[in-house]
Amino acid sequence: SRQNIGVIGLAVMGKNLALNIADHGYTVSVFNRSGKRTQELLAECTTNNIEGYFSLEEFVQSLERPRKIILMVKAGSPVNDIIKQLKPCLTPGDIIIDGGNSYFADTINRSRKLEAEGFHYFGVGISGGEEGARRGPAIMPGGDVGAYESIGQILTDISAKAEGEPCCRYIGGDGAGHFVKMVHNGIEYADMQLICEAYSILKGVMHMSPSDLHEVFKEWNQGELNSYLIGITSDIFAKKDTDSDHYLVDMILDAAGQKGTGKWTGQVALELGIPIPTITGAVFERYLSSDKATRMEAGKLYGDCAKTKQRGADFVEPVRKALYASKICAYAQGFSLMLEASRQYGWKLNLSGIAKIFRGGCIIRAQFLNKIADAYSDDSELKNLLMDNYFKTVIENYTQAWRDVVATAVTSGISVPGFSSALAYFDSYRTETLPMNLLQAQRDYFGAHTYQRIDKEGTYHTQW
Ligand code: 6PG
Repeated sequence: SRQNIGVIGLAVMGKNLALNIADHGYTVSVFNRSGKRTQELLAECTTNNIEGYFSLEEFVQSLERPRKIILMVKAGSPVNDIIKQLKPCLTPGDIIIDGGNSYFADTINRSRKLEAEGFHYFGVGISGGEEGARRGPAIMPGGDVGAYESIGQILTDISAKAEGEPCCRYIGGDGAGHFVKMVHNGIEYADMQLICEAYSILKGVMHMSPSDLHEVFKEWNQGELNSYLIGITSDIFAKKDTDSDHYLVDMILDAAGQKGTGKWTGQVALELGIPIPTITGAVFERYLSSDKATRMEAGKLYGDCAKTKQRGADFVEPVRKALYASKICAYAQGFSLMLEASRQYGWKLNLSGIAKIFRGGCIIRAQFLNKIADAYSDDSELKNLLMDNYFKTVIENYTQAWRDVVATAVTSGISVPGFSSALAYFDSYRTETLPMNLLQAQRDYFGAHTYQRIDKEGTYHTQW
């Protein structure tokens, strides 16, 4: 009998996903460009549900119809290459599923082409890293809704479960799944940046050691900040270096890497005209951090040009509040980007459902996503999370602490682009009269760009 599904690409994510599918009782054929990885997987796995193939034709022939083939290859040209090789082996109706971090616009293009040729194409966001792929990731499938029936059950079975509900749901047409995964990553960037700023403040003004920080984050993880990222942060602070007598975190070079999904989120937000300053700020901060040599030089050039404020133990709670309030703004930005993309691309995204699948398996999984799910199930057209009652109450109760923390950091010369951009986002958002009357006047002055008036209809230009 034929195999239920195929996986192409056996680097760690593909391999773990194949094992996960096999664990759920499905039969899986696997193929990798170089046969070595296929052999390794076959040698180490104990299940009978996995069959390895060393020719693409035989791999395809081994699958039941419609064939379901998950690509777990690097985003970009490797995806095009494999599609090109696969196509001659396929039959109309077969389903290609791209499970990598592909750019959603590429997914839209590939999907249009392949659907026009009689195949089905799914762009599926898969989050949760290696462990998620193996034990249950969050899954965001985008593609033809009819064809989803053939793959939905498998994806649902292998996904994480949060409060008993699967962290997988049909997201929308063509690029919707990859779009949502991209925004997930943008939010992930912001969330990580905010946590790093909390660390920087606690270390800077309270001189906390990694072991103190381990305790603080452990405690935060018991409350409303409860999340995967806070949990691993607490673990990280407890880890001793094996090569020195320091904590490992203190031995790691402060130059951040990135693979591009955060940058894409920023680019798309600029295209769609949706402000996501805390997310883009997090991307920029990674760029800034990566040029360590110049920062060292500038550090010498400027020396200590701010006086660090000293704060006592009672400052931990304001920092927690500032972190939560900033986090709310970062998520508000990410979700408003999805709202606008849904309109522009016609995806009809269910934001409440998306918040729910983010509750488990993925990197940003957190308790508080229940609150986001509630906000959008109360009002699916909610303009911004900041307009929701629960979030309004939190922000109102926390703004004083939030301002105090940002002010303390700024006075102390501690860079807090995340906390401060989130606060500025909130302040701009709630300000009835911004100074853009002046900006409009300037535009009209030098470029006759015209302006509107507050007291009457029409378009005006002044000879300044
Ligand atoms: C996930 C992660 C995953 C990943 C990114 C991070 O959801 O499982 O987001 O996609 O770790 O590759 O990328 P950076 O290297 O850009 O931080």
